Amino acid sequence: MSELPTDIPRKPFGRLTLEDLEELASKAQGLIEAARDAAIDPHHRKVLRPFTAPEVAKLCGNLTVDTFSRRLKKDDQLPQGKLVNARRREFSLEDIHTLQAAWGITPRRPPDKKPLVLSVCNFKGGVAKTTTTAHLGQYLCLHGYRTLIVDLDAQASLTQTFGILPHTEVPSSSTARPFFEGPVHPGGERNPDWTGTLASAIQKTHWHQLDLVPSNLGLYGSEFAIAGRIRSEENFMFYTVLDEALNTVKDDYDVILLDTAPSLSFVNSNALYAADALVITLPPAFLDLQSASLFYDLIADVVRSINQVQGNAEKVFEFGAILLTRFKPSDAIHQKISSWIRSFLSDTFTHAMVQTVVLEKLGPRLLTLYEVDHTEESAKYEGDRKAFERALEAMNDVNGEIERAIQDVWSQQTIERHPPSPAAVSPGPIVSA
Ligand SMILES: Nc1ncnc2c1ncn2[C@@H]1O[C@H](COP(=O)(O)OP(=O)(O)OP(=O)(O)O)[C@@H](O)[C@H]1O
Ligand SMILES: [Mg+2]
Repeated sequence: MSELPTDIPRKPFGRLTLEDLEELASKAQGLIEAARDAAIDPHHRKVLRPFTAPEVAKLCGNLTVDTFSRRLKKDDQLPQGKLVNARRREFSLEDIHTLQAAWGITPRRPPDKKPLVLSVCNFKGGVAKTTTTAHLGQYLCLHGYRTLIVDLDAQASLTQTFGILPHTEVPSSSTARPFFEGPVHPGGERNPDWTGTLASAIQKTHWHQLDLVPSNLGLYGSEFAIAGRIRSEENFMFYTVLDEALNTVKDDYDVILLDTAPSLSFVNSNALYAADALVITLPPAFLDLQSASLFYDLIADVVRSINQVQGNAEKVFEFGAILLTRFKPSDAIHQKISSWIRSFLSDTFTHAMVQTVVLEKLGPRLLTLYEVDHTEESAKYEGDRKAFERALEAMNDVNGEIERAIQDVWSQQTIERHPPSPAAVSPGPIVSA
């Protein structure tokens, strides 16, 4: 047994009453605010870093820095960047979007195609849903897609990643909740938060053209609201609410990402119905694999109920692919489970997101890989530059592959699913190295 520290005077714990709990909740809230302010000092609001000329050249059609500089010189109406230390040019994200538009390389959805709603999901907790959603949203934004992220988890981790405090800076009226409640409360009185459009919940973020419908703990109330409406409203289709909400703003975006909670809930059923495609994040570990099988059962249940209600309008996802997350390439069990998943389960992205100490360190600082400054000075501060570059490369590979899957949907490249091959035999036992 470990020794108790003797230098800290220990007093017996007190009894915990409801009053104490209320006081603790408010104290904890104060602590969260202080922690957020410390993490994103000195602004207490996130401010996006500038981008270097090599980064911008890459985002503007994979140009070399020389070609990029020559093109800029030819047109002084274009953003020329800010000269730093008389030797380096820095550009804002808005500059990047202006350049992409001026050079006709904004890779938007074709005008005759619908925006793609993509749900990042798995009913298991901690499988990198939020990390994937935040990085994918920022990647798509950097490449010129108009992107909306909807935080559908009452834990609101994604909202916090954008530097927003869910409980003090997000009123419930600015989440998806009013849509789940509907225009009228069960007692018959008007819902004061109802505006009839999701636009009233959308916030601009520190990322130009990347918008957010934030969340807070109050979103959990949507479960009770939907249950109440099922009882009180005749023919209420509880799973279509989010889809209807998204329809009010869809045209302004190319891609809409849904970050979902690790649970089977009415809100998640809505996310499944609203989604055109699914990215199922899954670490290749034994317990996660076990919950994946449950997850497919539950999706099948939801889709079966939707199909029964809808009659002949069958719900089909454009794609539903597994993204291996938190993958440890040198771990024999991870390798084996990954190869089983690839052989026996559904479509799996070729690239996996590796487990990296870089993300472990950035998470508590509310930073993503795309928000870390690439200049030499900050690279020293960020520690191991090679580890950072490896993590960034893996994230770009993953996001690039998801982007291609999205583009395939717009160019109608998705293929019919074939029945499982009769040759597929059950996998052998796991033998650890
Ligand atoms: N590739 C990775 N390498 C290291 N840490 C990671 C990686 N991906 C995610 N994490 C960390 O794992 C934790 C869980 O990730 P995340 O919050 O994205 O999961 P989640 O599925 O959204 O969880 P929840 O179900 O609670 O919403 C976070 O601390 C995150 O920083
Ligand atoms: Mg999450």
